[in-house]
Amino acid sequence: MTTTGQVIKCKAAVAWGPGKPLSIEDVEVAPPKVHEVRIKIVATGVCHTDWEYLFETGKGMKFRPFPLVLGHEAAGIVESVGPEVTKFSAGDKVIPLFLPQCEECERCLSPKTNHCKRNWANTQAGVLADGTSRISCKGQRVYQFLGVSSFSQYTVVPDTSLTKIRSDAPLDKVCLLGCGVSTGYGAAVKTGKVESDSSCAVFGLGAVGLAAVMGCRAAGARRIIGVDINPRKFEKAKVFGATECVNPGDHTKPIQEVLVEMTDGGVDFALECVGSPAVMTAALESTADAWGMCVIAGWTETEAMSVKVEKILMGRTLKGTYFGGWKSVQDVPKLVDEYMDNKLKLDEFITHNLPLGHINEAFDTLKSGNSIRTVISLWQSGGST
Ligand SMILES: NC(=O)c1ccc[n+]([C@@H]2O[C@H](COP(=O)([O-])OP(=O)(O)OC[C@H]3O[C@@H](n4cnc5c(N)ncnc54)[C@H](O)[C@@H]3O)[C@@H](O)[C@H]2O)c1
Ligand SMILES: [Zn+2]
Ligand SMILES: [Zn+2]
Repeated sequence: MTTTGQVIKCKAAVAWGPGKPLSIEDVEVAPPKVHEVRIKIVATGVCHTDWEYLFETGKGMKFRPFPLVLGHEAAGIVESVGPEVTKFSAGDKVIPLFLPQCEECERCLSPKTNHCKRNWANTQAGVLADGTSRISCKGQRVYQFLGVSSFSQYTVVPDTSLTKIRSDAPLDKVCLLGCGVSTGYGAAVKTGKVESDSSCAVFGLGAVGLAAVMGCRAAGARRIIGVDINPRKFEKAKVFGATECVNPGDHTKPIQEVLVEMTDGGVDFALECVGSPAVMTAALESTADAWGMCVIAGWTETEAMSVKVEKILMGRTLKGTYFGGWKSVQDVPKLVDEYMDNKLKLDEFITHNLPLGHINEAFDTLKSGNSIRTVISLWQSGGST
């Protein structure tokens, strides 16, 4: 029975308000409008940013409207397409993208950036291009998260926020390329342009940080120092290529001083993958005079970091990265190829698999430091689904 053109009733994890656990609900997903695609989500990762929006909204994060369906690191299959969609058809395997690539705006036309402007304000406001959402629950509009909302069995996204991937890609693995792994890997190889034989420090060894370690290794870095306050992350960091690991809690001196001493003047590249302004300052100050490069991947929206001007005057560069600098539509399929060719790890990031009904446990294990990534299977029964 075709569902094209029909409202689909399915399950989703709805966030009814900031700080409250997600609740599994029956939702209605409207058909796609012009230049939109409806996707059956097969698998989704749970990223630190999902947690931040739920628990830090109005604090470290700007306020976003609720109720909301979170989730932005996913893979699925096209169910149907709206009018004027030319690049997708039912049955395509796809990865939805929280950062679009419209290929038309001045930023898409520039090789200098991946910051596509398409639908930006609406996406931040939790709606699609026409100012509304396609998801509703109990007759009430449910806002979409970053234009994606993958904690739902079906969602609708703009056709510029979606990329088609090869048909043999395992969706329960490549979903991680929708955010965390691409971000960390790109922070090193694309935004930071880590060089061979260089020394690197990666702050925060969650999925983003471990992917940054993997990027430093792929770039041929000689020394890759993993930094985390949770020493349980160190073993995994070595799997991804860390040559040594440091716990700031083991030292009385600030961690930047420890790193400067360890490397005789500072690292060539520092990558911040925590989202803490204090750690960002430490990362910048751990780099070497003259050419030190600090890349910030960790996310915070309302807080400021402190920068000693002298550190910049002495030749350091401070950069931020959004989605690892990748032009999303064109680059994500290439990262899928790298995984399929065994050049990029994904399986090693996945510490837990859970059905949608257990999604709150994924937040708990992420915050307690016991998981790297939990992959949620949208169609596996269990919990309260
Ligand atoms: N820039 C982007 O486009 C983008 C994309 C995805 C995620 N992010 C952000 O990247 C950050 C990391 O995401 P994640 O999913 O890997 O998170 P995570 O929670 O899995 O990992 C964070 C790690 O940082 C460690 N940590 C905490 N405080 C620390 C400190 N003071 N010093 C050293 N380590 C410390 C934690 O122990 C943990 O291992 C988050 O801020 C997230 O919002 C940014
Ligand atoms: Zn994310
Ligand atoms: Zn664009």
